[in-house]
Amino acid sequence: MFVTPLIAAPMAGGTTTAELALATQGAGAFAFAAGGYKSAEQLAAHIAPLRATGVDFGVNLFVPRTAPLDAGHVAAVERYRRELRATAARYGAEIPDELPGGDDPRAKDFWAEKVALLLADPIPVVSFTFGLAPAALVDRLHRVGTRVVASVTSVPEALAAVESGVDALVVQHANAGGHSAAFLKAPGSGAGSGVGSATGPGAAAAIQRTLPGLVADVRAAVTLPLIGAGGIAGPEDVKAVLAAGAQAAAIGTALIRTDESGARAVHKDALADPVYKHTAMTRAFTGKPARALVNDFVRDHGATAPEAYPEVHFLTAPLRAAAAAANDPRALNLWAGSGWKAAMDGPAAAVIDGFLGGL
Ligand SMILES: Cc1cc2nc3c(=O)[nH]c(=O)nc-3n(C[C@H](O)[C@H](O)[C@H](O)COP(=O)(O)O)c2cc1C
Repeated sequence: MFVTPLIAAPMAGGTTTAELALATQGAGAFAFAAGGYKSAEQLAAHIAPLRATGVDFGVNLFVPRTAPLDAGHVAAVERYRRELRATAARYGAEIPDELPGGDDPRAKDFWAEKVALLLADPIPVVSFTFGLAPAALVDRLHRVGTRVVASVTSVPEALAAVESGVDALVVQHANAGGHSAAFLKAPGSGAGSGVGSATGPGAAAAIQRTLPGLVADVRAAVTLPLIGAGGIAGPEDVKAVLAAGAQAAAIGTALIRTDESGARAVHKDALADPVYKHTAMTRAFTGKPARALVNDFVRDHGATAPEAYPEVHFLTAPLRAAAAAANDPRALNLWAGSGWKAAMDGPAAAVIDGFLGGL
């Protein structure tokens, strides 16, 4: 399905620009555009330059939660709102009283609008994270000529994805930077209890298993093409993932510092700053487990943040925006995979060359 063993992973929130996707594609990787957080109009503009190349590419979407928060989580969000006020005040930011909900398209990350766009104006590949696209949607995408990729973090998730009819799987290890794709609760999947803490049992479980080990487990369970992702720092890691049975490996963090990446300078600089010693899985920023450099915000709020995405994402957004405006990394979500120290600056094509040249 993928003619190259190297995939430029989708990185929503500004990191994957059209320029980054084009640069990685031009250097021989398969590029994914990042649909998360974008409106349908913004997504259309983001993918237009990729369409124009005539080369296959993918678009990634977040699958929204369908169930409302239960009362316990609503109360936990309220507690977290109060907890965040002191931190927000330090940045002159307000924690919002009202969060997008109900019919507000932001609450579902503009899902219906973006799905309509991709069905009306089809693209070669669509990948999903945070959950499975319904089988009926997978079927509709197939009928317009789009191949469908699901993101999974465990064998049970891989088996569920096969049932939905997808064509390939991203097998994401908990060492990956940014949000975990996990959608079923399982030990070490990044979705279990304790992952809100930098030192909790989820973090410990995450480093006990390797990406090649996870890929081999999924390979033994399903026959679909696999893309291994999470913590890949150099070509030797790619080789190990391919040897374990994947058709390709995806890199995210390795591209964050590149010239074409839209990550903020403060994020790029933090990845090269020896003051940061660790990454951790944390819910502190968005209410969904995500791997980030451990900074003050992770230390102060990692243990108390509730599992409530996207509510916590909306709660912390003004605080993060204020920290970004002040170029202050202490309250920013500095997404980073476990291989962050190897991330290089310079042209993205040089990073891709370094990976492909070493295979
Ligand atoms: C800044 C950042 C943003 C990300 N955004 C997305 C996203 O929008 N959709 C997605 O499926 N994965 C996202 N991920 C995860 C990547 O697609 C990929 O699984 C991960 O980067 C691989 O691990 P690595 O960062 O250690 O290379 C993101 C990762 C990072 C670092």
